[in-house]
Amino acid sequence: MRAAEIADQLTEVLVTEEEIRAKLEELARRVEVDYEGKDLLLVGVLKGAVMVMADFARALKRDMEMDWMAVSSYGAGTKSSGVVQIRKDLDTDISGKHVLIVEDIIDSGLTLSWLLDNFASRGAASIEVLALLRKPEAAKVEIDCRYVGFDIPVEFVVGYGLDFAERYRNLRDVAVLAPHVYS
Ligand code: XMP
Ligand code: MG
Repeated sequence: MRAAEIADQLTEVLVTEEEIRAKLEELARRVEVDYEGKDLLLVGVLKGAVMVMADFARALKRDMEMDWMAVSSYGAGTKSSGVVQIRKDLDTDISGKHVLIVEDIIDSGLTLSWLLDNFASRGAASIEVLALLRKPEAAKVEIDCRYVGFDIPVEFVVGYGLDFAERYRNLRDVAVLAPHVYS
């Protein structure tokens, strides 16, 4: 697909590549201070968080471990159902570790709420969340997210790891997907 065809499917750029880069640097400075003297395990939630993880981990000027989990929350089309299934579990034992979950987006909060309960039962020393994007007005459960990149309106967004039917993940900005694409 060429650039002009992609542009026809997006209505608006919400967050630019430059804004993302600056925000991840800012969050990295906070995480460096907050986790000083502690081992840090970043857990990325596949696949949406791949870009955030790659850029955030490299923004960090400190050592860390990295692991990944893949979950799917079943539901119709563009909505999360809260029924979560593990598709790929962690490779590491997180008991006693300081875990920072790295997410692309918090929408209803149902996926993360489930993930936080799941991680708590594995005995991590601490669990915090970093999410690039959050839709506050879509929240069905409140998530205590310590590191938030950008609050955005309730619209379906793609780019920078976020997909619609596995497409658009490689767009460099975060943009609103035109409703005609999915409705
Ligand atoms: P919940 O509602 O459980 O959603 O907080 C979490 C997961 O749903 C996906 N999601 C989106 N994916 N554009 C996307 O490409 C969006 O606007 C969007 N909203 C939610 C995403 O995988 C997230 O982790
Ligand atoms: Mg996701």
